[in-house]
Amino acid sequence: MEQLQIQAVYLSFATRAFKMHAATNIEQIIQEAQTHNSQNDITGQLIYHGGVFIQLLEGEKSKVQRLLGAIACDRSRHENLTVLFHQPMQERVFSDWSMAYQELDNHSLDIVNSIVPWQKIIRASEEGETVTPDKIFMVFKGLRERL
Ligand SMILES: Cc1cc2nc3c(=O)[nH]c(=O)nc-3n(C[C@H](O)[C@H](O)[C@H](O)COP(=O)(O)O)c2cc1C
Repeated sequence: MEQLQIQAVYLSFATRAFKMHAATNIEQIIQEAQTHNSQNDITGQLIYHGGVFIQLLEGEKSKVQRLLGAIACDRSRHENLTVLFHQPMQERVFSDWSMAYQELDNHSLDIVNSIVPWQKIIRASEEGETVTPDKIFMVFKGLRERL
């Protein structure tokens, strides 16, 4: 039987150690991610801004869950990971990317803020403020145009 495909989005906060060498550390994550994800048919995008990560993972449910587990245990690099949502996948947003990466510049941040304020997404992880999956997808789709 075909496995259920899902999309999951989480938010987390880079550790102090990570932030001290953010550019090098991110490069390393993306290299690891591209190798592992392409072997497991996982796609998605990692966003980094001001010490905050938001990542979309797309793929077979068991594989996405296993990866989320590994990422959540990666405590030297980030902390306070909150899964914002996971749901069955209609279609991949990043079918061509084993892991796309964007650090938000001012223009990208404007795109995000025009859909849902960046700070509101952060509050959704900390204080249970509601940001619908639809809005989060719009953010990822909006940023995909800039890849
Ligand atoms: C913000 C963040 C995003 C990550 N994204 C991925 C990813 O998409 N794919 C991946 O294989 N590893 C990713 N990693 C690295 C994993 O946490 C972990 O180091 C890697 O999967 C190896 O895990 P393992 O030693 O349990 O096999 C990420 C780490 C961080 C901090």
